[in-house]
Formats: sequence, C-alpha cells, structure tokens
Amino acid sequence: MKVLVTGGLGFIGSHTVVELQNEGFEVIIVDNLSNTSLSVLDGIKNITGKTPAYENIDLREKDKVQDFFKRHTDISGVIHFAASKAVGESVEDPLLYYENNISALIYVLQQLQQKPDANFIFSSSCTVYGQAEKMPITEDAELQQAMSPYGNTKAVGEEIITDTAKVTNINAILLRYFNPIGSHPSAEIGELPIGVPQNLVPFITQTGFGLRKELAVYGDDYPTPDGTAVRDYIHVVDLAKAHVIALQRLLNKKNIAKVETFNLGTGTGSSVLEVINSFEKVSGKKLPYKIVGRREGDITSAYANTDKANNVLGWKAQSTLEEAMASAWKWEQKIRS
Ligand code: WQD
Repeated sequence: MKVLVTGGLGFIGSHTVVELQNEGFEVIIVDNLSNTSLSVLDGIKNITGKTPAYENIDLREKDKVQDFFKRHTDISGVIHFAASKAVGESVEDPLLYYENNISALIYVLQQLQQKPDANFIFSSSCTVYGQAEKMPITEDAELQQAMSPYGNTKAVGEEIITDTAKVTNINAILLRYFNPIGSHPSAEIGELPIGVPQNLVPFITQTGFGLRKELAVYGDDYPTPDGTAVRDYIHVVDLAKAHVIALQRLLNKKNIAKVETFNLGTGTGSSVLEVINSFEKVSGKKLPYKIVGRREGDITSAYANTDKANNVLGWKAQSTLEEAMASAWKWEQKIRS
C-alpha cells in the first residue's frame, strides 16, 4: 500500500513516516524543505532501515501537484501535514498562511477527487476550539473564531474537506492535535525549530542546554491551579501512531462516516510550571525562568476528552509528560553534540 505523506520531513510528518514504515506501508514524501532539512531522511532510514521515496515539490504549484499525481496513480492514502504552523508568524503574514495552507490543500484534494476511491487524513489542531467552554474538550465542542490566521486555516481547511467529501469519493479523517512534544526514542529524528523556538518545550530544552539565557513564562495570572496556562502535551510518537490507525480505519472502511474528527491528546492538562518541573526532574537541571506578561492570543486552558479516540478510533496515548520531556531533552543533547 503506497501512502503519500505531504510535509513528511517535518516534525510530526517524519515520526508518522517511521510508524507507517513499521506497519509495512510504502511511503512517498513530498516536502519543499521550507521548515526542515533533507537530513531527516537519513534519520528515518537509521530507524527503519528504509529510505522513503521523496520529491521536493511545493504544493502551492498546481501544475507540479497535477504532474505528481499523474506519475503516481497507485496512492491509496494521503496524510497531509504540509502547512506553515507558527501562530505568531501567521498574525504578521496572514496571506503567506492562507496561500500555503489553503491553496496547497485545495490542489491535493482536486487530484484526489478524480480517483474512484481516496483516503485523506488532515493535520488539524485544537486551536480551532479557541478557549473552549468546558474541559476536557470533546469533538463536538463549538468551534470558536480562531485565535490566529494559522488556526483559521485549520478551521477553514476542515470545512473545505467536509464540503468536498460530501460530493466526491474522498473519505477523510480530521485529527485535532493538542500539543505535540518530544522525539523518537532513538533520537534519530525530532523537532528542529528554525530560529528562536515559539513553542514551550523546544525553548525549555534549548535553555536547559544553555543556548537561551532563560525561559519567559507568559503569565502566571490565569485562573488555573498555579496561575500558569494549561495544555495537553502529547508525545509525538503517540501522535504518529494515531495516524497509522486512522489510515487503517479509512482503508478498512467498515461503516464509517465520510468525514470523522478525533481529538488527539493525553486527556491530562499540564501547566507551564508543571512542564518546567518535568524538565528539571528528567534532566537534573534547574531551569532559569522569569514570569512575564501573557502572550497575545494565548488561551487559559485546553486538554482533550479522549473518549472518542480511545473507543471509536481505538487509540490511546501511552507516554507520560516526563517520558515525552526526557525524549525531547535526549534529542536536544544529541543535535548539539
Ligand atoms: C504552550 C504554553 C504559552 C513559550 C500552539 C498552536 C498549536 C500547535 C502548538 C503547531 C502556552 C507557554 C510558550 C514560551 C511560555 N501548533 N509558553 N513561554 O500556543 O499552546 O499551541 O503551538 O503545531 O496549534 O496553537 O503552544 O508551546 O507555544 O505554548 O510560557 O517561551 O506555554 O503561553 O501557555 P500553544 P506553545
């Protein structure tokens, strides 16, 4: 079974390619290397022994997308990761995000709708919930006005897929990630933030390694137990495995809806201070940090109700916050060595 993974050299994409290969799928990656490096291919091969096929294509080039699907008519499923994903950057440059995240999605779907049977998995995000009313968050929670153009591209992307699946042979699963962290236990692949990390965990591990002076904690005046914001931090390998299970669900097509949505989290919320404590525990280091003002657009709390993912998809996150943090720290030390 041949599977196209767009953005397959990225953080979540590369971990998913490993799990797909472990399950015997033949993988072809399309990635324009805008937020990763070709060395990730070696990392994948070092883990699985197989180098996935790879083509450097920018999915914003419609003719290149058409040509790709003309040359690869035997693709049984597509997992679509390729997108820009920095919340802050999306506020500064919305059109970059709408062009990259929406037009690329449309061009891929236009190819899939021509096939007699198409299986499509979409990388979405809990950000579509904004600040949800009720914790833990279920899939039928109201979608709020997204907190950023990045989040809006995920919400609009879901709508585009849903509308298209209704009138084509495309079957889709929308996976709403909470906060992916950590790295493959082999430390052969992991998160490669370019420049100053926007996300909490890579900033922590870089600070722990001495690359950053201290962590700025964005606010301790939230209505949470310790005043810092709460998120659901999920090990990226757990997340990757969910994609394989979702693909197998689509391929088996046993009485499933045309479009299904699943929250992918651990079901447990952790505050920023708890994440810092988990780093200090697994590294044995004291993390220098200071409390500063809240970050624009941040929400107080988000963690997943995982019942549907556990009971319908048949997937459950296995790793603890500490195990995920330990893998992130191991990766940081590896890439700096
Ligand atoms: C987590 C918590 C910050 C950095 C976003 C997107 C989501 C996904 C992950 C792409 C927050 C605090 C952070 C720092 C801090 N996107 N923080 N100091 O904002 O929950 O989610 O990234 O994959 O779709 O919405 O993740 O890691 O940026 O922040 O105090 O230097 O850590 O305020 O409470 P976020 P994050």
